[in-house]
Amino acid sequence: MSEESSKIPLVHKSVLIHEVLTYLEPKPGGTYLDVTFGSGGHTKAILQREPACNVIAFDWDKVSLETHGPPLLEQFPGRLRLVWGNFAHLYKLLKKENIAPVDGILADFGTSQMQIFERPGFSLYRDTALDMRMSPSHQKLTAYEVIQQAPQETLSEIFWEFGEERYANRIARCIVEERVKRPIQTTTDLAKLVARAMPGGVKKGYIHPATKVFQALRIYVNKELDNISAFMPVAFNGLKPGGNLVCISFHSLEDRLVKQYFRDKEREDVAQILTPRVVVASTEEQELNKASRSARLRALRKI
Ligand SMILES: C[S@@+](CC[C@H](N)C(=O)[O-])C[C@H]1O[C@@H](n2cnc3c(N)ncnc32)[C@H](O)[C@@H]1O
Repeated sequence: MSEESSKIPLVHKSVLIHEVLTYLEPKPGGTYLDVTFGSGGHTKAILQREPACNVIAFDWDKVSLETHGPPLLEQFPGRLRLVWGNFAHLYKLLKKENIAPVDGILADFGTSQMQIFERPGFSLYRDTALDMRMSPSHQKLTAYEVIQQAPQETLSEIFWEFGEERYANRIARCIVEERVKRPIQTTTDLAKLVARAMPGGVKKGYIHPATKVFQALRIYVNKELDNISAFMPVAFNGLKPGGNLVCISFHSLEDRLVKQYFRDKEREDVAQILTPRVVVASTEEQELNKASRSARLRALRKI
């Protein structure tokens, strides 16, 4: 890679842009929250679709805001505000930033391609420290500490619960046996160890055997499911009547939380589900962007 091209920031390929706009329905004079700014693809699409609306965008990853925020602030003067924070603490953030109920909220859960390719610990294909924290200044616990210190049963539960890894017990036992001999410090150390613990090892043309373990650890370190559970009711309260909440999930456990919350609100007669069937990416999008294959969009309107 030339020095010039290495300076170009990596951009996350946003999924389901057309569908997000359809269900968020940005209107003139409206204010919309994008609580997972990433590299701003959805924020930009909203601002472009409705030239008389504003967006307030949040992200927990400060580097994402600092890298991808400034060009959009310049392109849409006075229409975009950026806030660094965890959407699990949306209530506090809205209060602190003096944000009144809004016309629509978008959450595109999970990780960005910048995090996978540039932050330490997220990818098993890059040899980096086992970190995996989305916001190191807000979080103490790293993936390294989990791997090195958690009891065998806890490791096994993490791999089973968040990764649906059928060899969870076996992998946890291997980790505990290995870590007393020498610390498991890097992504490569862990990926190799998991591959050794699995019956088939690494097979050409198949996903790496450590994929589910990495996913499970990331969800655990960043408390991703707890964050979504905390976010849903506060987001709902932060909407004006008639406002829409649009959520995109990439994991069945995330989607289950969204689906359940939406059903509860509809049963309480305070909301209407706009997506009776989950919305997935078109075949064309799935061909162009592999990551969109697991995206699941659901939308709800507050009554
Ligand atoms: C799938 S990416 C979003 C991509 C974005 N929609 C775009 O178009 O570029 C998910 C983003 O959510 C952020 N994120 C994850 N958990 C978060 C949380 N609890 N609070 C705020 N942001 C979070 C990540 O840092 C990441 O940038």
